[in-house]
This record gives sequence, structure tokens and C-alpha cells, in this order.
Amino acid sequence: MNAYTRHCAARPLGGAATPPPLSGPDPVERSERRDAPDRLGHFTADQLGRLCEVAGIGARQRATHQRVLSELLGPAAALPLTDPPPSPSFVSDDHTPVEFSLTFPAGGAPVLRVLVDPGFAARSLPDNARTAWAAVGRLATQWGIDLGELTRLSDLFLPPEPHGPLTLWCALDLRPAGPTGVKLYLNPGARGVGRAMETVTEAMTRLGHARAFEPVRRHVAARSPERAGFMFFALDVGPWAEPRVKVYVVHHGATAADAADAARPVPGARPERVAELCRLIGGDGPFDRLPLVSCYSFTGADTHHPTGHGLHVPVRAYVRDDRVARERAVRFLRRYGVSSTPLDRALDALTVRPLTAGVGLISYLSLVQAGRQAPRITTYFCPEAYRVLPPRQDTAPPSPAPAPAIERGSTAPRSTPQGSTAPRTTD
Ligand code: TRP
Repeated sequence: MNAYTRHCAARPLGGAATPPPLSGPDPVERSERRDAPDRLGHFTADQLGRLCEVAGIGARQRATHQRVLSELLGPAAALPLTDPPPSPSFVSDDHTPVEFSLTFPAGGAPVLRVLVDPGFAARSLPDNARTAWAAVGRLATQWGIDLGELTRLSDLFLPPEPHGPLTLWCALDLRPAGPTGVKLYLNPGARGVGRAMETVTEAMTRLGHARAFEPVRRHVAARSPERAGFMFFALDVGPWAEPRVKVYVVHHGATAADAADAARPVPGARPERVAELCRLIGGDGPFDRLPLVSCYSFTGADTHHPTGHGLHVPVRAYVRDDRVARERAVRFLRRYGVSSTPLDRALDALTVRPLTAGVGLISYLSLVQAGRQAPRITTYFCPEAYRVLPPRQDTAPPSPAPAPAIERGSTAPRSTPQGSTAPRTTD
């Protein structure tokens, strides 16, 4: 075990990365699948290509997005999937260094996003950081993106001997037209979990958000370390209409009511919506298999408070299998009057396995509330490039009755391409 694997094995985020227990049948190995490309780059690029169709992204843009994904993966793209993952990437439970997500803005076409761990092929955390920084640097040069903010924070988040479980991740908001939105994810515990509060507070001060951060700082300080901690620090870089800084807070063993409380520091965010999402997935809680995660966003529009709150629920830990996870997602989308057809198309784009054969394809469901914007739902997907986790054996379903059945694979109306010139906010 090197420093990287040891650190990840220790799960410093209070079990945040703990996959569902591997009881029950053996995991379905990827090599058992038919027609699947055998290299990480091809496997994920194929999924991305099919997801682009779901998001209304045309052939030319699709090829560009696939190329960028491959560039971000760098040498990892060529890795055969029959070999074990070179490092235990914290992006996905099976250590695939890629995660897809689909945001469903009310009334609009779904927005596709991909998150990448560009240092995945490196075997130590310092190398992971160097590789990731180089990859992000190349992308920034190519697209004329200023990385000044990242550089100003690098002593905090990218020290010479970083702690895990991540160093620098990069997410892309992929749109049918206009520039791709770039977001960077950093580790608040890079200088040690014990210094995370100091690290995040200093970063927020340097970026001019100290005062707006104060309500969140107090919320976490009152519960830290047993009940709350920091998970990610994220920066929007490039030509965003309204760039955000985001602070992710993990809630250990929280109830639905605790999660609702976590939304209170954000004016306009309705706590009861947060509680409703939790109850739909895991009842009243406590959510102690994998933690709930809040995301507070800061744009500077409100100098005294965060401008948005998102709650991420790790649905995979609270359902038997992905059929149930999908039912929960469909029910939640309906609650907000959003069509679930793109979700079904996305699931078909990702895998041919039956949804009942595993859990974790749908990793998180989230609800973002920001200002006067309509609430936004996001579903997160694991590519399952390395393996499929078996259905959970220990899950008593929460109270809600099953959602009415919808055929998977039904054809959906094509999404309307958006014509914005600057990426808008999604999660
Ligand atoms: N896989 C990690 C986890 O499940 C990190 C992560 C990936 C994550 N996507 C996320 C955390 C979305 C919160 C929200 O915790």
C-alpha cells in the first residue's frame, strides 16, 4: 500500500466513500459484458457519446466532448479494463475516475456534466496532483481560461505532500452550443482533515467570501467533527455567466430534519423541500450508511449569505438496486413536474445490464435551491467501468409506495438545444 491507497483505505471522510457492503452474489465483472470496449477511454467516451444524444448535443460537439474527456484522462484512457484500477479514485465507488450527471432544469433540456479525476493513473497522491494540474493547465491554455484563482489557493489545497482522498478534479458542463463550463474540485483536507476548517476559511477570505461564508462556518463548527465536516471546495473557472465558489459539507448520521436545518443558512432555500427529498429516499433517517452532503454556493450576489444550497442524497446506500433508485428518482422528478424520459434514456445509454442486477449506477440524487431560480434536480451516474456492485441485502424500503411503472427504453422527444453564450449554473 502506498500513501495514496493507505489514505483512501482509511476513508478519512467518515465513510463517505464506503461502497455498499459486498454481501450477496459476487460483483458482476466488467469482462462478462458483451460488446463493451476494453479500454477506459473508449468505454467512457462511448457512454458520453450516447449521453450527449440524450442531452440534445449534436454530432460535432459530441466528438469534441469525447476528445476532451480523453485528454483529461490522459494516459489513463489507454488502460485496459481487465486490469485493476491503478489508484482508488474517489470519484466513483468502483474507482472509475469518471462520473456523469444530468441536471433537469424546470422546463428546459437536461444538462449533461462529466467529472474526471485526471490524476487517476498516478500511483501516489503527489503524482496525482501534478498530473491533474498539468491536465487542467493544458485545457485552460487551449480554451484561454484564467487559472489565477487556483494558483492563489494552491498552497492551501495542493501542498507538496497532499492528504487524500483527492487532489484536483475537473468537471465539464457540456452544452449543445456555447462554451463548455469548467469546474475544479479541491480537497479541504489536503493539509490534514484537522485543518479543513482553517483551510476553507482562509480560501473563502482570499476569494472575498469570508462574510457570506460565516453562517456556514458557524453551522459546521457547531457540529464538527462528529456530525459535520468539509468534503470539497469547488471553483467555476472560465466564462461563466455567474461563477460560483462552492463548499461541500458532509453530514454524518443526519436525519431528514438535520438536513433541512442545513439549508437554513441560505435565504430562499426551503428546508421542507430538503426534508422531503430525504424522506422519499430513506425515510426520516438517520442516514448512516453513506452521509448526506450539502453544497453551499457563493457568487458574491449576497455578501452576507450563501446564494444557494444543494442537498446530495447517496441514494445507492438506501435502496436494494438501481430499479428502486430509478423509481425514487422518477417520483422526485414528477414531484417537480419534470419528465423522467431523459433519465431512462440516460440509463439505457450507460448500461445494458438489468437495473435489478446491481446498485450504484445511480449514485446520488440532488436538489439545488438558489435565489429565485426554480429548484433543480440532478441525477449522478457511475460508469461502472470496473465493476457493478451487487444489490444490497440489508435494505428495508422506506415507506413510499412504488411509483407507477414506466417502460425503460421508451423514445423521448429530442431535447431542445440551448443557445446561450456563457454556461449557466448547474450542479
Ligand atoms: N464518490 C464520492 C462520494 O460518493 C465523491 C462524489 C462523487 C460526490 N460525486 C459526488 C459527493 C456528488 C457528493 C456529491 O462521496
